[in-house]
Order: sequence, then C-alpha cells, then structure tokens
Amino acid sequence: MIYQVYVRSFLDSTGDGVGDLAGVRAGLPYLKKLGVDGIWLSPFYPSPQHDHGYDVADYCDVDPLFGDLAEFDLLVGAARRLGVKVLLDIVPNHCSSEHPWFREALAASPGSEARARFHFADGRGPDGDEPPNNWHAMFGGPAWSRVTEADGRPGQWYLHMFTPEQPDWNWRDPEVAAEFDRVLRFWLDRGVDGFRIDVAAGLFKHPELPDSDDPEADARTRDSVNPLAWNQPEVHEVWRRWRSICEDYTERDGFERLLVGEVSVPTAREHAQYVRPDELHQAFFFDLLSAPWDPDAFQKVISEAMQDIAGTGSTVTWVLNNHDQVRTVTRYGEPATEGSGLGAARARAAALLMLALPGAAYIYQGEELGLPEVVDLPDDVLTDPIFHRTGSRARIRDGCRVPLPWSGQASPFGFTSGEESAKPWLPQPEYFAEYATDRALADTRSFWHLYRDGLQLRGTLPQLGEGTLRWLDAPPGVLAFARGDDLVCAVNFGTAPTPAPVSGTPLLASGPCPAGVLPGSTAAWWIGNS
Ligand code: GLC
Repeated sequence: MIYQVYVRSFLDSTGDGVGDLAGVRAGLPYLKKLGVDGIWLSPFYPSPQHDHGYDVADYCDVDPLFGDLAEFDLLVGAARRLGVKVLLDIVPNHCSSEHPWFREALAASPGSEARARFHFADGRGPDGDEPPNNWHAMFGGPAWSRVTEADGRPGQWYLHMFTPEQPDWNWRDPEVAAEFDRVLRFWLDRGVDGFRIDVAAGLFKHPELPDSDDPEADARTRDSVNPLAWNQPEVHEVWRRWRSICEDYTERDGFERLLVGEVSVPTAREHAQYVRPDELHQAFFFDLLSAPWDPDAFQKVISEAMQDIAGTGSTVTWVLNNHDQVRTVTRYGEPATEGSGLGAARARAAALLMLALPGAAYIYQGEELGLPEVVDLPDDVLTDPIFHRTGSRARIRDGCRVPLPWSGQASPFGFTSGEESAKPWLPQPEYFAEYATDRALADTRSFWHLYRDGLQLRGTLPQLGEGTLRWLDAPPGVLAFARGDDLVCAVNFGTAPTPAPVSGTPLLASGPCPAGVLPGSTAAWWIGNS
C-alpha cells in the first residue's frame, strides 16, 4: 500500500502556508504508524506552478518552495530508516514552458534541432494563423499555441495537450529519451525506490498529427480519449527501457525498484499491455474509482481487472482517491443528504473492499481521515488551471487538495507551524476540526483506525496476499468474495441490513456489525466459510 503525499498540502515546516519536504519528513512517523509501505511524492521540482508542479522546469532539483536537495536526501534517509519506500512523480509527457530546452526552442528557428525536441509545426491557412490540427487540450482550449519568431513575426505553433505552459515533448527525438534516462538515474542514484509516471499512456502522438474526428473529446470527458494523441504503440518501448534501467539498479544492490504508471486507456485489455512483465510493475486501474456506488458496476470492474490484467499474470493497482478526483466521501454521498453520513459510510466500506482485493492499493492523503471534498471554495482562491481555462467549476481539483488538518480547533489546524498570519494556500473549512489527525488517532471508530487495522491485517493474513478472488453467492445488493480458503469480504451496497454471509463476529467491519447481520452501506471481513 502506497500513500500519496500531495506535498504542498501535507505539512508546512516553514510557515509560508505551503507544505514542503521537511514537513513530509516530520510526518513520516505518522505514516509509519498508519502502516504504509511507501509514499509517492507529488512533483516538487523547480516549476512556475501553473499546474502545481506538473509543469517541470528542471527535473533534477527541488523548488525552493519545497526545500532543497539536501532536505530531499534527509527525507530519503529518514524514510529508509523507517522502512518506508519513496516514489517520485516523474512527468515525461510535457515540461514547463520555462524549461531551458523549451526556451532554447523558442529562440531557435523553425526546423532546428532545438525545436525537434517538441512538436513545432507551421500553421494552416494562408497566413499560417490556424493551428496545425484541430486537437483540443485536456484542460480546454486548442492544443496548440503560436509563437513569435526572432524577427517579431507570428511564427510556428507548438503542441500542448494540457496548458500552454506545458509543451509536450517529442519522444521521437532521441535526445528526449536520453535526457529522461539521465533523470531516472539521477534520482535512483539519490536512493529513490521508484517512480509514479504522469500521463504514462501519452508521450507519443500519431506521427502525422492528423485532424481528429471528435476534437473536443478529451476536453469534454477530461479523459485521454483522442486515439491520435494517446496510447500509441511506441510508448511501450519507453517502459521497456525504463524497466531495464530499474533492473540494472536491482542487480547492483538487490533492492527492487518500482514503476507505477498513470494509465488511462479505454479497456482493461489495453491497460494490461502496460504491465507486461518487461514494462511497468503497476498501473493505476481507474475504473474502480470511476464506478458509481452500485454492486453490479463494482463487480463488473473488478471481474474485468481480474480477468484481463491479473489473468495475464500482472498486478492490478487499485485506487479510490487521488489529487485529481472528488474525494470518495463526497462522491458516494451524492446526491448529498445533509447529515446522513451515507457518503462516509460508503467510503469506509469501499476502503475495506479495496484493501481486500488482490493487488496493490494506493491511498491519497486525507483519505485515511475520511476528509470530504471541500465544495464551497470561493472562486478567487481556486488555482486549478481547469477552472481558469474553462471557467467551469465542474470537476475542478482544488477541493481535494485543501491542506490537511493535524490538530486544534481552528485553521491552520497544525498544518503550518508559521506565524498566525501565514494562511494555508487554500482555506481550510471550520469543520476540518472534526477530521484532524490527533482526533482521528484518539478515536478507535475513526477512518484512521479502520485503515490502520485493515492495513495491519492485509500485511499479516496470508489470504490477503497474492492470489485471486472467488465470487460468492450473495443477496441482491451485496457483493461477497473469498480470498484464499476462508477469508470472506462482503459489502452491502443497499441501505437495509441483510443476513451476513458468514456466521460469527467479523474480523473487521467498516461500521457496527453484529454477528449474523451485514448492515446497509457496510463492508466486513470474516474468517470462516460462507
Ligand atoms: C496528471 C496529473 C494531473 C496533472 C496532469 C498534467 O493527470 O495527475 O494532476 O494536471 O497529469 O500533468
């Protein structure tokens, strides 16, 4: 189980209202107590922060906002002593428009080597003032921006599948591939255990960059569905090479390195291609996260993953929350029924379900506290480029990125140790007091204890290790499956109680669960035969 640390919102050690690497180091004992195997750090590299660090200006350094390389080394050392693995977030699809190579490309002329590292092309139309093709960017607007050439005239266009400040690399240029090999080695030499790979189904575009039949599909769905821009077959070569770099390090020191990809592709079968034995070790399988709170939807997604991914000998990597998605407590609580606690009960049940599934699990900071999405942030504090580029509040990402509450009754809830005037970079609502980590640790009924207990059992019960699952007969509205010979997990998606599939008291349950009964919106684990 890997814990995703969104660095700017985890813990602030300097008092500027932004979390940092020293804050992560200070939080490691807390994470160790929770039972994580490792952490994934969101990007902390030098960046103008147009997309919170997913616009990297220098892949081999630390932004002063988050610390420096010496602090990074301290963090890795401290994590190693605690037995917590460290994964970095690497962003190979695009960089920042402030990356020195992009600046060089802007200053260079059309057709130059410097421009070949990106996708520069002449515009269409008589004056070249129409973009080279009709693609739209994921976060709204055209996927091309026009540059001004050295002579002051409007010139070529460059491709950016996200914001204009995130130019896409041209992976057909061998220098780009070589540069990323160097970046990987730089961090592996510094002791990291692996990488979460941003936009791992990206990198290569159709070589002709042709028009798309449905140019707005990416922006409309906010999913990488343009078949000309994503999931090109050449990308697999990159994962093979990165895997072999990792294996080199393992051969040297015996420690396994881990590559986990953010892979959004249409089907589980295509997904499975990314986790072939010589490619990525893991790839987030987002279908569980996208599934509505419905037993048939969950069963379909899990069955597909087991058949098409686990069935080919690879690991399935489950995830319910991350820094791009509405948090489960809120997502499952919709339509919101004030004070019903339904979303929270379902999120707890989903957590137990995920932790019982074969494969890897990732949790996103605050998930272990049952944090809801902050849905009422005022427009003037929103930072998500999606909001600024589309003007739409629909599916913006600030609400899941609000700094964590650690202690106390009022903001900053121990998040920032600075002056009283130093405000967290996004405002924390008053109700965050209920979710502070100190309260969660003190209350055995908290989300935190559920995750901690679940993780402990997951680490000790052989049934929850490698292997598959067997679906069991269950009443309507209930999903039940067995792991190993005798571990049963059941989830009641409905609101009325049903008979439990196993007699006796459960080993662990997401809510009060008397023997013989599985209450509504509850999951439980039993040892025994159904
Ligand atoms: C990934 C990241 C997201 C970022 C985007 C562009 O989807 O998870 O936060 O905005 O890539 O790098």
